[in-house]
Amino acid sequence: MKERTLLLLKPDAVMRGLIGRIITRFESKGFKIVGLKMIHISKDLSKDHYAHLTAKPFYPDLEKFMTENPVVAMVLEGKEAVEVIRNIVGPTNASKAAGGTIRGDFSNSTSRNIIHASDSKETAVKEVARFFKKEELHDYKLVSESFLYASDE
Ligand code: PPS
Repeated sequence: MKERTLLLLKPDAVMRGLIGRIITRFESKGFKIVGLKMIHISKDLSKDHYAHLTAKPFYPDLEKFMTENPVVAMVLEGKEAVEVIRNIVGPTNASKAAGGTIRGDFSNSTSRNIIHASDSKETAVKEVARFFKKEELHDYKLVSESFLYASDE
């Protein structure tokens, strides 16, 4: 089932020059980039996005980190995108992330863990709408599509 999900390449990924290497992994897997932009997250947007975490003791550091430098926001589309991408990303605590996952390969931290990916289909719908206007999302067909999936997938 085709889904869309939101990813944020966090400021540590941007500042460490990892943008291209991370995006390549998703393209190689067959995901289609349907939205892509570099933005500065405002404090209000951070509070909205991390609403479930604003009372946590680490929230002030999280907000400072996420708003001080730019992020790359991206919407990817593909088969079972939410779950497959969460697996490619690895667990929140990168110290526990397996090699081969993005967090496992590029981070050893819970707070500087490179990337955010929507954690459920419901969250993905909300997060895509939070970061992208309708006109910033693009419908097109990858030329490789017929080689990525069988016709009944
Ligand atoms: S929870 O409540 O811990 O299960 O929250 P979760 O949805 O897993 O996401 C936590 C996000 O906050 C970032 N962050 C931290 N988490 C835990 N501990 C510390 N100290 C911390 N600092 C920052 C963490 O990277 C998660 O960010 P996202 O963007 O959701 O991956």
